[in-house]
Amino acid sequence: MAQRLFEGRDHAAAYLKYRVAPREVVDRITTFMHKKTLKRFNLAVDVGCGSGQMTTLLAPHFSQVIGVDVSAAQLEMALSNKKPANVTYRQCPAEELPFVSGEVDLVTAVAAVHWFDQEKFFQEADRVLRPGGCLAVVSYGIDMELEYGDVSDTLNKICQEYYAALIPARDPNLGVSDANMYLDMFGSCSYPDKEWNNPLCIRRTAPVSGFMGIIESTTYFQELKEKDPTEAERLSSGIKSKLLSAMKASSPDPEVTMVVKYFYWLACKP
Ligand SMILES: C[S@@+](CC[C@H](N)C(=O)[O-])C[C@H]1O[C@@H](n2cnc3c(N)ncnc32)[C@H](O)[C@@H]1O
Repeated sequence: MAQRLFEGRDHAAAYLKYRVAPREVVDRITTFMHKKTLKRFNLAVDVGCGSGQMTTLLAPHFSQVIGVDVSAAQLEMALSNKKPANVTYRQCPAEELPFVSGEVDLVTAVAAVHWFDQEKFFQEADRVLRPGGCLAVVSYGIDMELEYGDVSDTLNKICQEYYAALIPARDPNLGVSDANMYLDMFGSCSYPDKEWNNPLCIRRTAPVSGFMGIIESTTYFQELKEKDPTEAERLSSGIKSKLLSAMKASSPDPEVTMVVKYFYWLACKP
């Protein structure tokens, strides 16, 4: 069943501020597409585009890129961000894409398909893709790792403690971005030309506050915050203190390397 979340303005703003833009995934997608076709790429559609991290990265490779999302708050953030001239946004559900059959070269969905009515979305993606067009289904888990000098193991034990506290707080009816779920979707895709990739570790340097911001932008944390804001604040500030104390850094907000583990599958419509 399709879920309506991500409607809050603060949540959308946290997305724009903290989420990683996965340019390495875009490189993999365009390499896959170039192997399939010599044709110039015209239109890419990024479904569940949120604040547009993936949408804008696609711009150099296509004549036109359109990000679509049900959430007005997310699209407002996407529009407030700098965007190339060939990128536009539209508000619509993933299950009813406003495109003519066969006009799209690439459909992407990043950290989003687990929120959709998957059967309807995949039917729509198949309808709008041209023969030889590609589908890229991408996500990542909450299980980010941190690297910092010789205390990475200690930091990762603290992160594990954080994730273990957040996961049970989540409504079991909500979508779960889990590699096994995406592997099942991959198995159900009827296109014979397809590939599964797991994991692609993307490293980004960010201050500890940036790492905390990413976790706080997850629906795991947002759910806990809604149920028990005091507990959410206590948990987050406790974890931040533990990380800073393990790092023994002189700066109040030292930089750390975050490792985000992406899993994704690509498929080419026959
Ligand atoms: C976890 S966010 C990912 C956003 C972005 N793709 C990214 O990688 O940062 C999921 C997005 O999917 C959108 N979404 C959820 N259900 C949807 C649906 N049925 N149709 C269109 N968008 C949907 C949400 O509004 C949200 O912006």
